[in-house]
Amino acid sequence: MTGVGKTAVGHALAKLANVPFVDLGASIERTAGRSRAAIVAQGGKEALCTLEKAALATELQDPSPRVVALGAATLLHRPARLSVLERGLLVALTATVEELARRAPGNDNECLAEQSAARAASYAEAHAVIDTTSRSIDEIASEVLGMSVQDPIVVPLGERTYLVDVAAEQAEANLSKTLARLSPSRVVLVTDEVVWPLWGERVDRIIERLAGEPVRVILPPGERHKTLAAVERILRSAVEAPVDRAAVVVGVGGGVVTDVAGLSAAVALRGLRWVAVPTTLLSMVDASVGGKTAVDLGAAKNAVGAFHQPSRVIVDPLFTCTESPRAVSSGLAEVLKTALIGDPLFYQELSAEGGAERLAVQRDVGALTRAIRSSVAVKAGVVGRDEREAGERANLNLGHTVGHALETEGGFSRLSHGEAVALGTVAALRVGVALGITPADLAEQVISVLRRLHLPTDLDAQPVATALRWVSFDKKRRRDALRMVLVRAPGMVEVVPVVPADLPRLLTPPG
Ligand SMILES: NC(=O)c1ccc[n+]([C@@H]2O[C@H](COP(=O)([O-])OP(=O)(O)OC[C@H]3O[C@@H](n4cnc5c(N)ncnc54)[C@H](O)[C@@H]3O)[C@@H](O)[C@H]2O)c1
Repeated sequence: MTGVGKTAVGHALAKLANVPFVDLGASIERTAGRSRAAIVAQGGKEALCTLEKAALATELQDPSPRVVALGAATLLHRPARLSVLERGLLVALTATVEELARRAPGNDNECLAEQSAARAASYAEAHAVIDTTSRSIDEIASEVLGMSVQDPIVVPLGERTYLVDVAAEQAEANLSKTLARLSPSRVVLVTDEVVWPLWGERVDRIIERLAGEPVRVILPPGERHKTLAAVERILRSAVEAPVDRAAVVVGVGGGVVTDVAGLSAAVALRGLRWVAVPTTLLSMVDASVGGKTAVDLGAAKNAVGAFHQPSRVIVDPLFTCTESPRAVSSGLAEVLKTALIGDPLFYQELSAEGGAERLAVQRDVGALTRAIRSSVAVKAGVVGRDEREAGERANLNLGHTVGHALETEGGFSRLSHGEAVALGTVAALRVGVALGITPADLAEQVISVLRRLHLPTDLDAQPVATALRWVSFDKKRRRDALRMVLVRAPGMVEVVPVVPADLPRLLTPPG
């Protein structure tokens, strides 16, 4: 909003960070040789908007660090906003209407209030929204600089936008900041018996120090306990404590714990805020984005659930050091799959010499951090564009059609989720090659990376023929056709209808 302090804060921040400052409005005026008012007078608001978008695109193409002050209206255009969020750290400055009127006299308070309210959902899609009322310019500039060092990944969902921190050995610091910001009346800590002695007790101590003694719920571990009974146990503990609606649920554990904790938060007192602290690689790269929460109902996996976005997700790759090699490989299947869908650059790194080994054998924390960031960023982008899986989000189902069938056939115990995804990806590659969509050499390369990540790839050794009876239960099918995700090139996948009866033929290896 006019008068909020973009230019002043931008200048101060650029000075502090020792990088150039670009005022997009001024640079448009320089290029056009006219003031913005003259551009609007001659060509209307659209003319200014077109120039703003072009200037923004130029800025975003330049990889060197800079501080850019955007025109107030630039962010109202969602595609432009999403591209800024992908490429940079976006901070929206706000101020109370009274303060704005004081700083930019001549504006009508009612008009400012209306404009402010109309823009709130757009401005909320940022890495941070900072209220500049009664704060100094330098204070705000150093806060933003601190954020740029932390470099969280944003999941842009309007007023439910949240951040995912991915940083090694930073869980304590990030959790402390999160609790300070959320200021909960009480914390409900949910974890499991395996995670509690490994990492849960540490998190518990931070919570106790910052937010008082939490309500502790330590569940038995494993998918067997991803049930309504576990949710009921959490709800009873919270209600009996008792907690109020300012309480926050913190789930510390693998995907089972974060799913159960998130669903409990969705229904407790008609909705509590929650924070996810995933501790398995799989939950860091998969369950951390999108707000899907669920429990199983008998044999029906994830049959009872809700979309309930967390307030923050804190990922510390260090937590994976207590996981077994098989569990880490399982998470890496998801990493490779996601890179193939949306991060061709990272796919190249992974398939290059030593790339897979650094993750699966050396378990290098730096490399793991890079891998997790890649997956989270791809998913955050996809979810931001398609939260409810009306279109693009379906791309994330690469490897799921046959993978889920094999996972179900194995009673969810013979294969881990990642192993099933790896085999499902091999199946999708075979179908892609058979339909002339996937180049055969790309299929071979992906299969070799899967092997180097210590994942199973021998589809012919799997009970595929019997497992295929499960594909017709696939939630994603449309009428008689399955919707399989096939790979055209790294970073380029498409959903293709496949009739289940054709699958055995399409899955037969060539020759
Ligand atoms: N919500 C979503 O979007 C989403 C996405 C993917 C998967 N999931 C769900 O996640 C679950 C699978 O996740 P998972 O593999 O993390 O399962 P999990 O939570 O069962 O964890 C696997 C095992 O590892 C233990 N563990 C957790 N952290 C550990 C650590 N740091 N070191 C050693 N052991 C540790 C757990 O106690 C458990 O015994 C499934 O139920 C799946 O449906 C949800």
